[in-house]
Amino acid sequence: MPKIFVTRKIPEEGIKILKGKGYEVDISPKDRPLVKKEIMKFLGKKSYDGVISLLTDPIDKEVIEYASSVKIFANYAVGFNNIDIEEARKRNIVVTNTPGGSTESVAEHTFALILGLTRRIPEADVFMYKGKFGGFDPMLLWGDELGGKTLGIIGTGRIGSRVAEMAKKGFGMKVVYYDVVRNQKIENELSAVFMETPDGVMKEADIISVHVPLLSSTYHLINKERLSLMKKTAYLINTSRGAVVDELALAEIVRNGMIRGAGLDVFEFEPKVEKSLLKLPNVVVTPHIASATPEARIDMAIMAANNIVDFFEGRIPRNKVN
Ligand code: DGY
Repeated sequence: MPKIFVTRKIPEEGIKILKGKGYEVDISPKDRPLVKKEIMKFLGKKSYDGVISLLTDPIDKEVIEYASSVKIFANYAVGFNNIDIEEARKRNIVVTNTPGGSTESVAEHTFALILGLTRRIPEADVFMYKGKFGGFDPMLLWGDELGGKTLGIIGTGRIGSRVAEMAKKGFGMKVVYYDVVRNQKIENELSAVFMETPDGVMKEADIISVHVPLLSSTYHLINKERLSLMKKTAYLINTSRGAVVDELALAEIVRNGMIRGAGLDVFEFEPKVEKSLLKLPNVVVTPHIASATPEARIDMAIMAANNIVDFFEGRIPRNKVN
């Protein structure tokens, strides 16, 4: 029976699927992300056949080479930038992800950040806690309405498209977008307008939301030059991967009042967060929790487990990425 290592506790629903098939399942007893050395140490203990990995696990060339018995890495995430896909492909090792499971949650969290920023919810919350509320004040804590404004989406896969739909149907926003391929569906159904370059979106939109995978081509895609194109009244939202945005440049642009604010759920050097960002009241940050709902996280566990079962039952895993 296949032996599976799970690098951190995930929802039981996924583990039950594997155990139900009679697989031997070991879960890291450490309730924290593992460093590379620890991953290798665990993988050296038994000849594991499969691994459920997390986005915090660096599954690089060295790990893949070392864990020579492992035939599948089922990543518990949509993103798989933590895995050396090329190396896995070379060695015929299958890599899978969990697309779709978290779409709704991440799209909703994107709006939580948008509304938190535009209606200044964290600032208002602190204001209340500090006992500053002196009764209704016609001039207190003004924010921005979304209706009629333009949402710019960079990356219109499942999540980006759902955010576009929420913006259009829920808030009456206009949608502009950039992607490497045109998205006829959102053009037809949401009258979304395609921009030839990310720069077009940066210039045009009142709120820009980033939904691209982290690839060499998207590393610091949102850099100082692009941030400088934004309207002074615009906001940037990132729920994709931290390294897609140059955080230092973003902090500078916000600090200098060149944009109105930013909402971030992901950071380039997680769990570290660029300190200068944390000092800005118009930067709203959350700890990579966009998919943190039972609906999403349980679905992701089930998907990761089913990918493993597909593989060991001789089928092409449903979410194979390489
Ligand atoms: C993902 O799935 O890639 C998210 O970042 C975590 O849910």
